[in-house]
Amino acid sequence: MLVSAKEMLEKAREGKYAVGQFNINNLEWTKAILLTAQENNSPVILGVSEGAGKYMCGYKTIVGMVNGMLEELGITVPVALHLDHGSFEGAKACINAGFSSIMFDGSHYPIEDNIRMTTELVNTCNVLGLSLEAEVGSIGGEEDGVVGAGECADPKECKMIADLGVTMLAAGIGNIHGKYPENWAGLSFETLEAVNKEVGDMPLVLHGGTGIPDDMVKKAISLGVAKINVNTECQLSFQEATREYIEAGKDLQGKGFDPRKLLAPGFEAIKAKVKEKMELFGSINKA
Ligand code: 13P
Repeated sequence: MLVSAKEMLEKAREGKYAVGQFNINNLEWTKAILLTAQENNSPVILGVSEGAGKYMCGYKTIVGMVNGMLEELGITVPVALHLDHGSFEGAKACINAGFSSIMFDGSHYPIEDNIRMTTELVNTCNVLGLSLEAEVGSIGGEEDGVVGAGECADPKECKMIADLGVTMLAAGIGNIHGKYPENWAGLSFETLEAVNKEVGDMPLVLHGGTGIPDDMVKKAISLGVAKINVNTECQLSFQEATREYIEAGKDLQGKGFDPRKLLAPGFEAIKAKVKEKMELFGSINKA
């Protein structure tokens, strides 16, 4: 059964480790992450962007697939199904479809509007027992080939949003989605420390987990980060393994073209990447 992310993140924050959010794109991705979590006795969060939601035939399809897998694969570790960077409408759609956790990303609105919309969702999520992630200070990333710098959140605004009763807070600390540019200044620990001081025990979320050096990841965890999102690194591992398979001509041998065989190296690569991240984040045997 899917669970809210609240308990697993409170335990992580308390125990000074982080739970990984791994984004899913298809059946193979989902199965690889769930099996790795189970094999390593780790809690896990499956992230779904609105784009991935559309690709996978809508939120109801995803809920059906994930619930089916939990049962058929005998998954007993805590699993949350989480909307990643949701719009207000997307958040409502995922709540209706049966997601157990929601992110409403109101970081691009003026703070008053972010507060208003987040408040409405806090009330709904509380009634239904779902966890809710809010965001302050937008997280940069690549758009049309240009990599935008990650903003640093205003700690006072973080407190205003945290006080609304959200479960977890994503605060921009110079992190960005996708690969980091050569001249990236690194995470702003000054901002993270200030945010952490303002929000008390609230689990903090680090987006853009791909390519952050291990020592920075560990320091972020020591300063209240309890959830770390990883997407691009799994995609790169999948791509590399698939390319090797094709370049070695294995798709041309025997029944190598069979999608079950063609996708198998990528599936194994995602499993290895997820395990590596769970080790780094310290979530193994914390289920
Ligand atoms: P990366 O793609 O940089 O790993 O970031 C993932 C993320 O933050 C999803 O919200």
